[in-house]
Amino acid sequence: MISKTNHDFLYQQVMQLVRDLSEQGTLLPGEKLPSLRKMAEKLNVSIPTVKLAYQSLEAQGLVEAREKSGYFLKTVNTQLARPKRVKLSRAPVSVNMQVLIEQVYDAIHQANVVPFGIANPVAAAPTDKMLSRTMRRVMSIAGSRAINYGAMDGFAPLKKQLIHRYLDFGIGVDSHELVITNGAQEALAIALKCATMPGDVIAIESPCYFGIIELIESLGLKALEIPLCPDDGIWLDDLNQALQDHDIKACVFSTSINNPVGSFMPDHKRKQLVELLESQDVVLIEDDVYGDLHFTPERGIPAQAYSKKGLVLTCSSFSKTAAPSYRVGWLIAGKFAARARRYKRALSCSTSLINQWTLYEFVASGDYERNLKLLRQRLRTNKERMIWCLQQAFPATARISDPQGGCVVWVDLGPSFDSIKLFQLALENGISITPGYIFSATNKYRSCIRLSYGLPWNERVEQAIIKLGELIHLAKK
Ligand SMILES: Cc1ncc(COP(=O)(O)O)c(C=O)c1O
Repeated sequence: MISKTNHDFLYQQVMQLVRDLSEQGTLLPGEKLPSLRKMAEKLNVSIPTVKLAYQSLEAQGLVEAREKSGYFLKTVNTQLARPKRVKLSRAPVSVNMQVLIEQVYDAIHQANVVPFGIANPVAAAPTDKMLSRTMRRVMSIAGSRAINYGAMDGFAPLKKQLIHRYLDFGIGVDSHELVITNGAQEALAIALKCATMPGDVIAIESPCYFGIIELIESLGLKALEIPLCPDDGIWLDDLNQALQDHDIKACVFSTSINNPVGSFMPDHKRKQLVELLESQDVVLIEDDVYGDLHFTPERGIPAQAYSKKGLVLTCSSFSKTAAPSYRVGWLIAGKFAARARRYKRALSCSTSLINQWTLYEFVASGDYERNLKLLRQRLRTNKERMIWCLQQAFPATARISDPQGGCVVWVDLGPSFDSIKLFQLALENGISITPGYIFSATNKYRSCIRLSYGLPWNERVEQAIIKLGELIHLAKK
């Protein structure tokens, strides 16, 4: 107990108490520490003493301060335990990953599995009730107009709303260059079609979201993998080298938060990236679907803000923040606007009007922002719980990423481990995971898995992590 006669300072005793509570499991990672006032009252010490203790614990990486929310217990995930840097690929490759990707899609959509394999952050703070209310309102206002074909490039009020949101980052988007798409996936497809020809070399980050690898395959492009730093996005020195060695036509990078590692590219690096690429007239297709789900104090400014030549194409969507099934995304096409509009017309005519209208009302009512705040909090807490559970259940040699946003964590289980075997074993036990193998065009990540914490956290989830830990021992090469 806290004692004034103890030879340690009072704040050091408060620190020790928090450490003890954490070690005993009374306070779990992701949980909120008692408020400064409450703790001070309980321990009969002053508020500044508790504040100093919390700040010192924060400096040691044991707790984190969240704006306007208080202090939360963190898991300790040391630099040494993070995924290692991989080597820059020597040559671009044609891609052939469809069979395994198809198996993964089948698995993650099975009913009643614990869905670590699906990256659906919204499940942590569901929007269904708010959206169904909003959609009913839209139907009553719009009547049969809501089920008609919409404008090819999108519902004008939604476009205007997005343009305003980009203005907050200092980005002036011309309505003509903004096209509403069927999710970010269609935005990425149109962007790639605008900027490349079959056979061209495209730089992608490594590991890379498998939907992009599939797109590259379907468009007959070649992928060159640029290693990703687990902390702050692709290694720019490797990209620089690759630009010297190869005729790269475009790069597809997550410019804020990467899927599957969860790294966060800081603004100064994003600016450097755009300068580097535009100096060599290389197109940057930025994938910003996770941008709003940051755990960092500030959201990353889209790379679009730094473009001087119109060579940055921004792809994003409401899939990770509101409703993946609505399939509403967008593309800011820069100087490729006219081509992008043509491709959109040819590919899918337009995007569901009722869904766009509902999302417009959802944002306009303020519900979107309110839910986003809750969603970020839940994901952040889930991340801490997930990493803590993994540290308990997985071998001590596992290397676990430290996501700075989004809803997934990346785990490297070492060279003797086979993620495809674990994928199959886990499925037999009612758990879906994503094998690392499909996040590379060059079979780099067979020893890795991606796990989603975008779900309602409960006992069943924790039991599933323990089960995975047991199955790992059976999943050797
Ligand atoms: C990194 C990344 N980009 C793009 C997409 C596709 O997003 P959407 O569902 O909006 O098509 C996803 C979906 O999982 C993703 O994780």
